[in-house]
Amino acid sequence: MKPQNLLILALLAAPALQAQTLPVYLDETKSIEERVDDALSRMTLDEKIAIIHAQSKFSSPGVGRLGIPELWCTDGPHGIRPDVLWDEWEQAGCSNDSCTAFPALTCLAATWNTDLALRYGQSIGEEARYRNKAVLLGPGVNICRTPLNGRSFEYMGEDPFLSGRMAVGYVKGVQEQGVAVCVKHYALNNNEHERYTSNALCDERTLREIYLPAFEAAICEGGAWTLMGGYNLFRGQHACHNQYLMNEILKGEWGFDGAIISDWGGTQSTQEAIYNGLDLEFGTWTDGLSMGATNAYDNYLMANPYRQLILEGKVGEKELNDKVRRVLRLIYRTTMNRNRGFGSINSEPHIQLAQQVGAEGIVLLKNDPSLRALLARNEVSNLSNPSEPLLPLNLSKVRSLLVVGENAIKMMTVGGGSSSLKAQHEIVPLDGLKARLAGTGVQISYARGYVGDPGGSYNGVSTGQDLNDSRSAEELCTEAVKMAREADVVIFIGGLNKSGGQDNEGTDRADYALPYGQDQLIEALAQANPRLVVVNISGNAVAMPWIDRVPAVLQDWYLGSEAGTSLAQVLVGDVNPSGHLPMTWYASLDQCSVHAPVLKQGRQRVADPRRYPGIERQDSTVHLWDIYYDEGLDVGYRYIDKQKFAPLFPFGYGLSYTTFTMHDAKVADATPGAVKVNVSVTNTGSRAGAEVVQLYVQDVKSSVARPVKELKAFQKVFLQPGETKEVTLTLDARAFQFYDVAAGDWRSEPGRFNFLIGNSSKNILQTLAYDLK
Ligand code: BGC
Repeated sequence: MKPQNLLILALLAAPALQAQTLPVYLDETKSIEERVDDALSRMTLDEKIAIIHAQSKFSSPGVGRLGIPELWCTDGPHGIRPDVLWDEWEQAGCSNDSCTAFPALTCLAATWNTDLALRYGQSIGEEARYRNKAVLLGPGVNICRTPLNGRSFEYMGEDPFLSGRMAVGYVKGVQEQGVAVCVKHYALNNNEHERYTSNALCDERTLREIYLPAFEAAICEGGAWTLMGGYNLFRGQHACHNQYLMNEILKGEWGFDGAIISDWGGTQSTQEAIYNGLDLEFGTWTDGLSMGATNAYDNYLMANPYRQLILEGKVGEKELNDKVRRVLRLIYRTTMNRNRGFGSINSEPHIQLAQQVGAEGIVLLKNDPSLRALLARNEVSNLSNPSEPLLPLNLSKVRSLLVVGENAIKMMTVGGGSSSLKAQHEIVPLDGLKARLAGTGVQISYARGYVGDPGGSYNGVSTGQDLNDSRSAEELCTEAVKMAREADVVIFIGGLNKSGGQDNEGTDRADYALPYGQDQLIEALAQANPRLVVVNISGNAVAMPWIDRVPAVLQDWYLGSEAGTSLAQVLVGDVNPSGHLPMTWYASLDQCSVHAPVLKQGRQRVADPRRYPGIERQDSTVHLWDIYYDEGLDVGYRYIDKQKFAPLFPFGYGLSYTTFTMHDAKVADATPGAVKVNVSVTNTGSRAGAEVVQLYVQDVKSSVARPVKELKAFQKVFLQPGETKEVTLTLDARAFQFYDVAAGDWRSEPGRFNFLIGNSSKNILQTLAYDLK
């Protein structure tokens, strides 16, 4: 053979030779498990210890010597958080870390659209990937036990089934991008008040039926790669290293093979962290620097203290190896997955999606067609046909529009805690309306109405807005009322915001009522002009004592970058509202089981502090608040049903600009484990729109007390005017079961069940009977 041919052969063989010498942990032809084993076998004790705890605020090291990359986390859950300094919460000062702010998760849940949840996950996953983040700290799936929870806006409402379905879409979408989700905050982290010392005491059945199913769905069906332990305690042990929650349920029963990450500062004990499942420690405060250590992170509870115990032979390496394996597996699934894409950020499709989720999540709470207020005052003008609802705004008739309220001009993407963002742009409601109405001839004016929170900064990110106004509350109200008298239609845009005591991490809401005197202002506006639309921006229910005097009310959530565009689309009817409430809208706090007057005090009945905010232990050695979940399964609509209360708006409720009927419900397939129910929906109005078909299962006779009914299937259906579609809802075995505490398993009892089908938990339109064999 000629020498040049030999050379060619040698060159061709080179990659094969290289592949042969490639260590298994780098060999992509090998399975992840083989690669993990190989990497683990090469690591020193110090490298193993290093990889299971943080090296900075948001990263943990890989193995530098072996070329195994670092792991970067980011908040979460509705946008990619701007970078902070290595060891400070302050901004790193980057100019490439602004993002698309997607609507907060209550809004996503309010869409009841699981396809949208998947697309949401894909889009936010792409943004995380683009920013080279391996773990996205979300979604949050804690159940809304009380509307006072300051972080409800980051979660998906009160129902375990709805939260679970939406979480599965989110998780799959994010992880398709080679980015891990971190489902949080496991478990029973249902209040912000005293969140580090809250000890949740909940019976087993309630735990399994109400507080765990959304986590279970995210793990078992969604396949989540990481999960975050909460700050709180559960049955006296910290959630981050809780033997029962982590080892027995999550890793045992559910077979979770991912990594458990502590909430930032949630690790409290080396011993428990070693044995009770925690895999990655983040955010622990240490006084490492004052102790003369070069690196405070070395003093994390899972760092030097753990290493020392191993060196002294007090603990073995079995647990450590399991933790390292899980972290390595996470790295292989994310940063070491060469097949993942590169992601994208602030792209047109992301902005469009944010807009769509926002518009689809807005809930039309009231749209009174009779305008009774106008009739009563004998004031029916040519503007308002009393049989015509106030919304959508009739742009051929409305000439002047007054917008009132701070939330019309306030940027909401900054604030609220760790979910605070640096959005590349944010369209506030007033600007969204102005843009939409440009060229229509409608004159828009604005009155402030009230001053709430004129600031707007979080951890060094500032909105740049100065919303200070030195006028008194009375002056502001007088001005708004005067202008309201002159306007054809008034739109009040208020509600809560992201400051302390409202929708905000670290504090619970101070009150169920609207702050800053908004109720009085709304009453005054309604007096001045009955053509009043109230737009409430909040992450949860608020009291609406003026509801009878206001003809139209929209629930707007925190909608992110495109907040103003989405709202304008719904107000003018470009988008027909189809959001439905993911939580009960209590008329007053008394209707919520957690705050219900159950204690006798003299002649009065009062709420029981055992349930909320808990009982502070009178013990100088431990500072704990015991919170007794005495209400058990009676959370949200389950309690409303039991008590036969009339809430202001029930769970699952939402109006449309069109009308629908549901008909011809039938059991199409009675096979246990996959029961299929068909129901037809017709759009009987004149606009295209979407309805949410909700199926609640009722166990007619049971050996244990069961809720009156529980949501077990739903589907959103889009219909043109006059169109009919048949929807199929599937009920799996779990839809009929309760958790049998004695057996330690899920069980159903044969017998009669009713399927209650409707468009809210109170508006049941079709009922079917089904006999479970
Ligand atoms: C929050 C988490 C968040 C973490 C990191 C904690 O205070 O509870 O939800 O992911 O900080 O910012």
